[in-house]
Amino acid sequence: MTTSDSATAEKITYDPLDPKVTDHPYPHYVQLRERAPVHYVESMNGYVVSRWDDVEMVLQDGKTFSSAQFWPELLGEYDPVPEVAPMISMDPPGHVRIRKLANKAFVPGKVNKMGDKIRAAANLLIDEIIERHGNEGEFDFVWEFSALFPVTVIADVLGVDLAQRKDFKHWVDSLLSAGNRAAYDDDKLAVIGQASKDIRAYFEKVFDERSDSPGEDLISGFIQAEIDGERLTRSEVLNMAILLLIGGVETTTNLLGISFTHMKRIGGIQEKLRADPSLIPMFVEEMLRYDGPVQMLFRHTTRDVEMHGVTIPDNTLVMLLLGAANHDERKYDRSEEFVLDRDPKELMSFGQGPHFCLGFYLSRMEARIAIEVLLERFEVLEPLTGEPKWMESYFARGPKGLPCRFKVRD
Ligand code: HEM
Repeated sequence: MTTSDSATAEKITYDPLDPKVTDHPYPHYVQLRERAPVHYVESMNGYVVSRWDDVEMVLQDGKTFSSAQFWPELLGEYDPVPEVAPMISMDPPGHVRIRKLANKAFVPGKVNKMGDKIRAAANLLIDEIIERHGNEGEFDFVWEFSALFPVTVIADVLGVDLAQRKDFKHWVDSLLSAGNRAAYDDDKLAVIGQASKDIRAYFEKVFDERSDSPGEDLISGFIQAEIDGERLTRSEVLNMAILLLIGGVETTTNLLGISFTHMKRIGGIQEKLRADPSLIPMFVEEMLRYDGPVQMLFRHTTRDVEMHGVTIPDNTLVMLLLGAANHDERKYDRSEEFVLDRDPKELMSFGQGPHFCLGFYLSRMEARIAIEVLLERFEVLEPLTGEPKWMESYFARGPKGLPCRFKVRD
């Protein structure tokens, strides 16, 4: 730690391992941006970066700030396909090769064609809620809707069995929880280990089936695709499928959970959206800025770097606080407030630079359609609390559960 950093360190309260901080991170981000824009965090043995311009610079510079250790650090020995890196954990130029291929499947023209299926997925889940609970009562928004909705959509994209959507969700949750593995006991670690084996075994089977009889789905597409005359290897295809499942499930679930939590907290907002559903896209954009599902990204330095008078040594963890950048007062007026018609032209919520989220278009569309359908079908849909229990995670943000009162529209 440098002298200039240690001078401010004792006043800074940010510690990503403290649940009090991750439950309410934004006041801590204000402190960081104001007084320690590059700050050493002892518990993580790394530096947090919190201002918009700095986060953007780091994410754009993949040479100095490498992604290569992202996946190994997150999953450790629980990586289901440890023999090759997934694209999120590759640096240019290797990353470009595989990203170009994946881009083709997620261009707006292709995603727009999925609108009807996405709407059908939302309607189906609502039908099931009504079957279980009747026309009026309570249900858990996270466990009965938002956790199942994106997994249904991505299962369809990948062409995998919908009946297994609860397994997918369980596998993804278990793998992501490997990030906190240092704190877990043997039983919990055994569950993660099993999930890692099961998800691999599942996609090995799908790979064999699709190699023998290809379909219109994305996995068949990856198996057949050629980049510069070369096919993807078996492990590369497995990795891509698992990454899409992980990337496409938790984040959109959390965006929906966060959105409905704030509908309880921010007075009158749901009424406005009901009165004029054309405001829903605007609501989603500002919600992504105001309280995004990904709070932190990881990079490692490939040389000594100096920022704001702090020297970050070579091969050191750098944590980019996307939520802090999205609240930077240098970037946005009234940055701590939710302003429905703000129409933020730029967001940090999907990252920046070479790893900019592949699902940025799909996830927004999913969120808009889900909110539209939910408000259409339910005359009342009100969380019982605006203070839910938040996930125990320093990089992902979302309510663990969200009990809601509901009444079906006649
Ligand atoms: C609201 C929802 C979402 C949020 C907030 C989000 C956020 C992010 C962020 C911040 C990154 C950058 C990672 C980095 O720079 O290291 C990223 C990358 C990625 N996301 Fe998303 N994501 C969302 C939805 C999705 C969906 C639905 C998919 C699936 C289609 C997806 C697939 C990916 C993939 C594959 C990458 C890696 C891209 C690369 O390495 O080139 N994401 N996402």
